[in-house]
Order: sequence, then structure tokens, then C-alpha cells
Amino acid sequence: MEGKFIVIEGIDGCGKTTQIEEISKWLPKSGLMKKNSKLVKTREPGGSLLGKKLRNLILDNNNNNKPSPLAELLLYSADRAEHVSKIISPALENEDWVISDRFSDSTLAYQGYGRNINIETIKKIESIVCQGKKPDLTIFLEISANESVLRRKHLVPDRIESEGIKFLQKVNAGFQLIAKEKNWKVISAKQNINTISNEIKEILLKEFS
Ligand code: TMP
Repeated sequence: MEGKFIVIEGIDGCGKTTQIEEISKWLPKSGLMKKNSKLVKTREPGGSLLGKKLRNLILDNNNNNKPSPLAELLLYSADRAEHVSKIISPALENEDWVISDRFSDSTLAYQGYGRNINIETIKKIESIVCQGKKPDLTIFLEISANESVLRRKHLVPDRIESEGIKFLQKVNAGFQLIAKEKNWKVISAKQNINTISNEIKEILLKEFS
């Protein structure tokens, strides 16, 4: 039997990282995981060693380094291929649990719905890159594009975050479609941090007890 693979998705500023921190402290004590299994907390882009280098390249805000949409898609895909091979698959095969800040549906939302790259092309690449691994559970932390911009107004944006509100609206609409199609658990991320964590914990208990 393999471990469990949990993914948290949402647009920039939705609070994924904060929630993953909280859930990662709770999960090993929750009674859900087998006694000897570990929790691997990871993210995309940048979950593997090569991925960390790719992340810097992909998110570099220098306009001279801006990749074409296809190159961008393939860079995220390279990051994912390495992430699956070196981090996700070994962990799951070891019966460990994995919680990832984003996975392949971010590509569908950002490069597909955001950048208008053909969805079928993305799905074909995904089927090679994911090597048969897919999340046991995806939780979507939903905020509006306006809220996202508001929450990040004092931060220095990375290259994708600099795309502006119209792009973010398209990405968010994409996430909403994917969430319906794939039956994701959707949580309003406008609520306070503790309420959101409690909702995530309840979902995990319901899904995996
Ligand atoms: P992060 O801020 O959640 O770490 O993600 C970095 C940025 O990369 C974020 O703006 C979303 C974007 N992204 C894509 O455009 N496509 C992808 O496949 C992934 C994983 C992230």
C-alpha cells in the first residue's frame, strides 16, 4: 500500500503556505498516518534540488529572462517531472504521506486558462510528467482575484504575480472549473486562519479515517 498524496491549490495569496504549515504540525499527531510513516511537506515549483534552481529561473522578474508561454509550460513540467521522480514517488512508495503546495492542476489553471495554451496539449504533457501519480485529495482555497491583489500589495511580486488582475481572474475561473470537474474540496479562504485549518482537518479526518 502507498502513502497518501494531498495537494493544496489556489491563486497567489490564498494562504496555502500558512495552512500547510499548520496541517503539517497536526497530521503526524492526528492518528491518520501509520506509526512509522513520515510526512513530506513539499511544493511546486521548487520541491526538488533541481526544482529550486528551476524555480529561480521561472519566477525571475527580469523582463529579459521572460520565457515564451511554451517554454514556461515546459519549465514547470521539468520541475514536476523531477519532483515526482525524486520526492513524491519515493515517499509514497515508502508509505509516507506527501502534502504539496500546488501540483499539476496549477499548470492547467495558470498556463492553460491563464495563458491560453491548449488544454489538451497540457493534459498530454501532464500524462507523461506525472508518471501515474495523482493526488488522493485536492483542497482548493478560494479567494477572489481582488482579494489576492489586496493581500499582496505590500510584497514584491514574482514574475507570475506581476501579470495583474485580469490574468489572475482567468486563472481563478480555471481553478473553479477544474474544482467542479474533479470534485475538489473547496474552502473559502476569506475566513480566519483557524477556521480554515479546522475545515481542512475535518476534511482530512473524513477522507482518511
Ligand atoms: P507559489 O507562489 O505558490 O509558490 O507559486 C509560484 C508561482 O508559479 C505562482 O504564481 C503560480 C505559478 N505556477 C504556474 O504558473 N504554473 C504551475 O504549474 C505552478 C506549479 C505554479
